[in-house]
Amino acid sequence: MPSDEEFVVTPWEVKGDVDYAKLVKQFGTELIDAKLLARIEKHAGELHYLLQRGIYFSHRDMNFVFDEYEKGNPFYLYNGRGPSGHTHIGHLTQFIFTKWMQDKFKCPYYLQLTDDEKFLFKFELELDQARFYAKENALDLIATGFDPKKTHLIMDSYHARTIYPLAIHVAKRITFSTAKAVFGFTNSNNIGSIFFTSFQAVPAFLHSVRVGRNVPCVIPLAIDQDAHFRVARDVLPKLGYLKPGILHSRFLPGLQQGGKMSASDPDSALFTVDPPEVIKKKLQNAFTGGRGNAAEQRKLGGQPEICSIFPNYQLVFIPQQDKLDALEQRCRSGEMLCGECKNICIDLATKFLTDHQKRREKARDKLNDFLLKEDELSIE
Ligand code: TRP
Repeated sequence: MPSDEEFVVTPWEVKGDVDYAKLVKQFGTELIDAKLLARIEKHAGELHYLLQRGIYFSHRDMNFVFDEYEKGNPFYLYNGRGPSGHTHIGHLTQFIFTKWMQDKFKCPYYLQLTDDEKFLFKFELELDQARFYAKENALDLIATGFDPKKTHLIMDSYHARTIYPLAIHVAKRITFSTAKAVFGFTNSNNIGSIFFTSFQAVPAFLHSVRVGRNVPCVIPLAIDQDAHFRVARDVLPKLGYLKPGILHSRFLPGLQQGGKMSASDPDSALFTVDPPEVIKKKLQNAFTGGRGNAAEQRKLGGQPEICSIFPNYQLVFIPQQDKLDALEQRCRSGEMLCGECKNICIDLATKFLTDHQKRREKARDKLNDFLLKEDELSIE
């Protein structure tokens, strides 16, 4: 009996078989249509493969953002990363797309590392561990090639002096009953987690605060994070700021059947720190869309739509559409079996991640260049 109850999507839980068309209705977002794609392409000069492939599929207010852009009021970018573990391919997808946006639109970008959030929501995680992962995740951001002059890393527990005074302005306008309705909190949630959404709202207007005028904000995120910004979009105009525009991506399937990539489950995805032997093992053990035996697969072909290897190509390893199409065709026709395909993926992933790891190690010295600069402390 299919019903809305079959899947759950909140920032802290994604359960069941997500029906994206239903989700768009439930959340009240809009699909990214051909007109919006054309608008992005017109200004960017090209379309990113993640837009072309529909990985970013839904939005809020992006037409308003481009109206402003065309009037000479360009936007800035914001998104974040919850540091509960190392960075996986799915997180990297967000960085790759956001970097493309920064390159094309030459705009500032704020990345919020929510060490506070992960500490508050994961009982077993100590703050030191969350801070450790925040720094590790920041290396992946730097290794992706962001412009240090335009990129600002916020680590919540470090930058509290800048974020807190703004967060309490947001918090004052969110009632407990709203927080309960939106996030499903109950009486047993700790009070830090109830306050947290006001921290996540701040970078959506922080740039406007810093430059002293309203600058539109664009937030590329995975759609489970939308709830935070449904609340923030209500509150920000009351504080005199613009509602941020949002680009939503789908969830990225994990390497096992039915699951999604998860930072807290090392076997669910390739991680940027995985050495070649781990990459090989994970991909060899991954769930595919193969058939019962080779003969059957030669006859019927493989099924990329249920395969967990194929999304890795789509998301990161094969950006060129003609190459991806050729591979898909060889799979569907039964010409290529899963063993060969896994070997191709192992080669591409190993090359990509070994290069990334070199840049990642070099990034250790650059971390401080990327941190959001706060004013010297003084009490007037
Ligand atoms: N809460 C997010 C997470 O757990 C991290 C985050 C903070 C974020 N600000 C954001 C994600 C803005 C997307 C957009 O991953």
